[in-house]
Amino acid sequence: MTSDQSVSTVTAVDGRATGLVFPPDFRWGAATAAYQIEGAFDEDGRTPSIWDTYSRTPGRVHEGHTGDVACDHYHRMPADVALMRGLGLRTYRFSVSWSRVQPHGSGPANRAGLDFYRRLVDELLAAGIEPWCTLYHWDLPQELEDAGGWPNRDTASRFADYAALVHDALSDRVANWTTLNEPWCSAFLGYGSGVHAPGRTERVASVRAAHHLLLGHGMAVEAMRAGRTPSNIGITVNLYAVSPAGPGIADADAARRIDGLANRFFLDPVLLGRYPADVVADLRGVTDFDFVADGDLETAAAPLDMLGINYYSRYVVAAQALQPVAEAGGAPNPVPEQAPPPEDGNRASRWRTPSCWPGSEHVTFGARGLPVTAMNWEIDSPGLVETLLRVHHDYPSLPLYITENGAAFPDQVAPDGTVHDPRRVAYFDDHLRACHRAIQEGVPLKGYFAWSLLDNFEWGWGYSQRFGIVHVDYPTQRRTIKSSGAWYAGVIARNGLDGPPADGVQGT
Ligand code: FCB
Repeated sequence: MTSDQSVSTVTAVDGRATGLVFPPDFRWGAATAAYQIEGAFDEDGRTPSIWDTYSRTPGRVHEGHTGDVACDHYHRMPADVALMRGLGLRTYRFSVSWSRVQPHGSGPANRAGLDFYRRLVDELLAAGIEPWCTLYHWDLPQELEDAGGWPNRDTASRFADYAALVHDALSDRVANWTTLNEPWCSAFLGYGSGVHAPGRTERVASVRAAHHLLLGHGMAVEAMRAGRTPSNIGITVNLYAVSPAGPGIADADAARRIDGLANRFFLDPVLLGRYPADVVADLRGVTDFDFVADGDLETAAAPLDMLGINYYSRYVVAAQALQPVAEAGGAPNPVPEQAPPPEDGNRASRWRTPSCWPGSEHVTFGARGLPVTAMNWEIDSPGLVETLLRVHHDYPSLPLYITENGAAFPDQVAPDGTVHDPRRVAYFDDHLRACHRAIQEGVPLKGYFAWSLLDNFEWGWGYSQRFGIVHVDYPTQRRTIKSSGAWYAGVIARNGLDGPPADGVQGT
């Protein structure tokens, strides 16, 4: 049954769906993030962020890559916007570099930094592209990390001030605002497993960081609501479908735990104003949540206009029998030598420490044998339908956006200069069909952003992973629209998918 009559399926005589049409006002876009593309790391008053420090720390990022130059977007912005216009993008999601616009993480704005984003927004509007601003895509000013970072409560207030400052400068021309991108990564990769900046491996601090990110999000929403221009405001979370590897109750519990920490630990505070009780119980050996003050959860649940969802894959999880490390023979999750001692003496915490799953370190992650991308992420578009339906059914109804979805593959430039990437086309095709199906089932999905416009600095993987619909040759900074980019331009022009599902995912 189609609950949204504006969505349709074109059916051939043999009954197979040959084309899918999206709602007329569906927003088609692409996304990037400041540190991943801008470069110009020390120009016009920008100071280091935690990613500048982290990428300069030996051994942290693949082959010592940094974002110093990245895609040089800071200097090539008008040409990049022209590229977007050529693709027919209707909207573009970018992030602002905090340390470019407020170099000390507090205090006055840096005019030159803000001017870059003013120029970007003007250029986008002139090209008929709607700007969509993300305030925080992981690049905390180093000065704020030196003061304690996200585990320090004051960082939430600093974030709200920064949000107000950027909103004040751009909200006359930017209608759509995302506070945080993927707070799970900031908290648990940044302060738990340490595979993201700032690279700390402190279990308690990682949970405190999550709380202060959520608090800062709510404070930023309130600060922007108090601004001169009404805006559409949301947050972007990275959600996963989570499945138990086996039929037993131990694996079911592992799935509950990972769904709890990855998904509900962020959705519940923001949309329901509370932490999920089972996750709080799972974390009992880690923290008693003494950092939560009266009123924090009301603030975190400040009403939103939309929710952004980044979807890439599914987690398939199992519970590993708990046994002391010495008995485990060091495998399969040996405790790295630099791991801090468990803070609670809990045997589980002796597994896979440092971990991005505090209190659930005994959970292991498997696979279903599906085709994978170059990141080794299984391609699982049914998980996207599942995720969208779940958010729609379990939480108050809100317009939803896929603010990121995409795939890395090892693209090659052909001798004739073209970049042919059929597997990425198939990935997008597959996931857009999933989006369409969710809309047909009543999910208020209003838009989709491909990750990413350009190949870029993929965090700990440096430049080794290419996610772009546009290829970047880093030595020359030459841009080449991949076949996926041309294909996506066609999707946007037709407002939907033509023909039967694209081939190419299988047999990767
Ligand atoms: C997301 C990030 C984005 C990019 C993609 C591949 O988690 O938000 O910056 O790294 O993954």
